[in-house]
Amino acid sequence: MTIKIAILGLGTVGQGVYETLLSHDQYISEKLGTDTELVGVLVNDSLKQRNLPNHIPITTNYHDILSKDVDVIIEATVGDHPAFEYLSQAIQKGIHVITANKAMFARYGKQLIEKATENQVHIGYEATTASGTPILRTLKQLLQVNQIEKMEAILNGTSNYILTEMTMNHTTFEEALVQAQEKGFAEANPSNDVDGNDAFYKSMILSQLVYDLQPNWEDVYREGIGEISNEQIQHAAQRGQKIKHIATVEMRNGEVAASIQPMQIDDEHPLYSVDGVNNGITVHTDLLGTFTLTGPGAGKLPTASAIIEDLVYVFHKEIKLEKQYIY
Ligand code: HSE
Repeated sequence: MTIKIAILGLGTVGQGVYETLLSHDQYISEKLGTDTELVGVLVNDSLKQRNLPNHIPITTNYHDILSKDVDVIIEATVGDHPAFEYLSQAIQKGIHVITANKAMFARYGKQLIEKATENQVHIGYEATTASGTPILRTLKQLLQVNQIEKMEAILNGTSNYILTEMTMNHTTFEEALVQAQEKGFAEANPSNDVDGNDAFYKSMILSQLVYDLQPNWEDVYREGIGEISNEQIQHAAQRGQKIKHIATVEMRNGEVAASIQPMQIDDEHPLYSVDGVNNGITVHTDLLGTFTLTGPGAGKLPTASAIIEDLVYVFHKEIKLEKQYIY
């Protein structure tokens, strides 16, 4: 059996997945005990010059992908639609799906998970939050009994990169944003990064994962970093503080409350030293207490890492789990 893969979208993330399938082919095959094959790629513009060999079929028509014998679809497009419809149709056909699409998954993740369960397929979404830093599966699988009281998180790599550059190197906001775009951290529309929308989507995904519910989106205070000046940052630094863009999600009297906003924190806060493109999440639980996970939050290979690990996890479960008693 060869695992047949299709990729939807060949932007930074899709390209990273393609490159990682090649660079790590041996490890992936060894782990799965079988080969993988890229059988199709969906793009917007078939005429664009790309770094893909000719034998990989490129199409602009999703039905070309669905009409193939595909085992798993990796979705790396932008926006809610048609990504949601694409994944719904794939799941309906019994195809496993893996997505990196935060906005779509924040809104439709619950529905897709229910559909995937009904159709007995897997849905991987580790890449939606903090790129490859393994936050989602860690929270879901390793904290089953602990009650998570509160999460505080830096969830947008671009914003954190900009704030760090402004703090450490006195770079202007505009220059730092251009750098984040050049490094492949920013969204196609970077206003989603700097206005706090991207961190908002990720915090809704965390809320759904941990509490199985989300607050009303209209009730979530959402503020980005666009108004922060170099003067404010240096003023905070003189008091030993940093300005960080922090999402807070917590359970209060049976309801989830969330906010996304810049905050001044001092060096006792666990997120103080989370700099550059890194993301971090501080989790407050009743049994374990407080812990923090940090790591890269954006970028081509860190995001591809999450997708490839999901891929192996999905098929490892499918192919081998019955033989595994210890993980
Ligand atoms: N633009 C996003 C960020 C990419 O900067 O965090 C990763 O989701």
